[in-house]
Formats: sequence, C-alpha cells, structure tokens
Amino acid sequence: MPCSANSSRGGCECQWEGTAERRGLTLAIPPAVRRKLASPMGDPYSLFDPDDYRREPDPEPDGEATTPELAVLAKLDRDKTLVKGSDERPARQVCLHSLDKAHIARYYADIVGKGMKRAYGGPLAWVELFAGPGMLKVKDLGTFMPGSPIEAVKIDSPFTHYVFADADPRCVKALQARLDETKVDATVHPVIEGDANSAAVHDAILEAIPRNALLVLYADPAALDFKFSTIEFFAERYEHLDLLINLPVPGFVRALRAGHEGKASGVLNHPAPAEIIGPTSGKAGTSLRDWFERQLRVLRYEHFESEVIRQHEKRVPLYDLMIASRSEKATKFFREALLRGRDGQTRLNLF
Ligand SMILES: C[S@@+](CC[C@H](N)C(=O)[O-])C[C@H]1O[C@@H](n2cnc3c(N)ncnc32)[C@H](O)[C@@H]1O
Repeated sequence: MPCSANSSRGGCECQWEGTAERRGLTLAIPPAVRRKLASPMGDPYSLFDPDDYRREPDPEPDGEATTPELAVLAKLDRDKTLVKGSDERPARQVCLHSLDKAHIARYYADIVGKGMKRAYGGPLAWVELFAGPGMLKVKDLGTFMPGSPIEAVKIDSPFTHYVFADADPRCVKALQARLDETKVDATVHPVIEGDANSAAVHDAILEAIPRNALLVLYADPAALDFKFSTIEFFAERYEHLDLLINLPVPGFVRALRAGHEGKASGVLNHPAPAEIIGPTSGKAGTSLRDWFERQLRVLRYEHFESEVIRQHEKRVPLYDLMIASRSEKATKFFREALLRGRDGQTRLNLF
C-alpha cells in the first residue's frame, strides 16, 4: 500500500500505531495518545523529520560506534529509518516529500558546479555533515534512489573537493562503499564517522578543505541536531561559506510549545528559545525564521532564500530548506534550483 499520511500503516510519521504490537512490545498507550498518533498526519509538528519512523527491520548491523556518544547517536537513527538497500547495504527510508528536498539539493549542487567552477577560480567544496548511507528507499513508490552525497558527486561539473560525515557507523560504511563504486573526477575525502558538532569532525573538515574554497555546507539533520556553534566555527574560518540547511521550523514550534528548550537552544543560539515565539504567537514560525536569520546576519550573512517542504497529501509544512550566503549569487542559484521540476527541466514562470 502506498504511503499515505492517512494510513497508520504508512511507515513514516503515521505508522506509530501498531508498531509496539508488531515488535512484541507491551507498551500501554493511552487512548487519547493513540488517537493522536493515528490521526491523519500523525504529529505534523513532531520534533523529527517524519521520515524517521520506519517499519522494516534493520539490515545486519555491520559497524560499531567508536565512542559511547556516537553509539547513542547511531542507535537513535538505527531505531528509525534504515532498511535494506537494492545493493543489500543500508538505505534510508523516506516519504515522497523528501524527494522534493533531494531534488532541490541536487539541482543546487549542479547549478553551483556549473556556474562557479570557472567563475570562482579557486577550490569548490561540497560538505555534508549528516550525510546518510548514500541510498534512499522511497517508501511510497517502493523504489531506490541515490542519497544526497551520491547525487552531489554525480553532477555534470563536480566540485573539486567533497567531504561527508555521519554519526552512524553503518551509514559511514555504506556511503564509503557507494562512493568507492562511483567514478568521480574530484578529491573525495574518506567518509568521516562522527558527531557533526564535534571538534574532531570540524578539524577533519578544516584539514580537508582549503580556506580559500567556495564551500557549500549541506546540513540535513533528522532532528534538532545542527548546532549554531558549528555554523559559527565554519563561518569564522571560511569567507565563502554557503549554508544549505534543513531547518525544522514546525519541529521547533512543537518542541518549544511543549516546554522542550534544550536542543532548540543550541540550534537557535538562544538561551531560552521559547521566548522567541512567545506563549501565544500565531506567527511562531515567522518569528523563528527571523531569529535564525538575525543570528546569521551577525556572522555577516545577508542573503537568504528558502522553500517550505510539505507533506504531500495534506500539504502540511514539515521543514524549511534554506540557503544562507554572504553572496547574492547563492540565492540566485537556489531560486534557479527551485524552478527545475523533478525531471531537471527548468519550468518557465509564464504568469
Ligand atoms: C536525514 S539523514 C540525511 C540524509 C541525506 N541527506 C540523504 O539525502 O541521503 C540524517 C543523517 O544524520 C545522521 N546523524 C544523526 N545525528 C547526527 C550527528 N549528531 N552528527 C552526524 N550525523 C548525525 C544520521 O545517522 C542520518 O544518517
């Protein structure tokens, strides 16, 4: 059955009901909570990307986290979305809306690669901190497609440098194998296993990417995991740093309304982020976006553009895919990427 937000068997946010039973767990779920979880959209304002709830069993565990911290991060993701890929390696299960994000990211990479290789003159670097395993399974279609790192290296005019990192050792191993199988005319750094916000990962990227590079940093976390301190770290060291960010605005609103400020605080760079939206504001999302932009402006970011990624059936907003840059060119490229349909053809804005 195709994934539908109306279905409690859909496998993304809406597949909570029944999961405990399927796994043989005896969780007592109160009727009110059960109703809510089984509601048409599950919980559209969940803290997490709805892709994060999987139905299929994990593929064979084939890697061990090297530190207790990484084990925690890896387990978080392992318990959610990894399924067996078409090549038997782990793949990330996603819903249709993730394709919208994937297409924009790929076209953005393609346009920057073509537009800036000659125009910029220096090194051109693509870095992903939440890289995933390199393959997506589109649950709604039952098909497989390359993950964002593979898409990024396969563009017609590749960047000169690529760095990918992920906290889950199984994603690291699978992505490395898939990259090894992909012919790329560029320097592809060995995939880094580590927390995107850790000094170890930051230092490895500094070592791999020359400071004069035009660096596109793509951060596609599944939860509130991309800390503002990480943005600061790179923004202070790379003058030409463009940020392509999955910003889970509804997730923030939901978390803050529920009194969970901890993770949001680190991402939004605010000691008490509930203050940003106030107790009753009807424009909580707008306030959050404004706040986040203001934080970036402090780092001399002046150009912003974003696209709201929506759940397909009900068109409920799930997260923003945003670009932030010190150069106007990046937002122009992003708008060009938005104009391309899924088939890669540019749509003419006739009206
Ligand atoms: C949404 S997926 C990325 C999907 C990828 N953009 C794609 O399209 O193929 C997020 C990834 O972040 C990883 N992750 C979660 N927390 C992390 C952290 N703190 N640091 C690095 N990676 C993390 C997960 O293991 C997961 O593979």
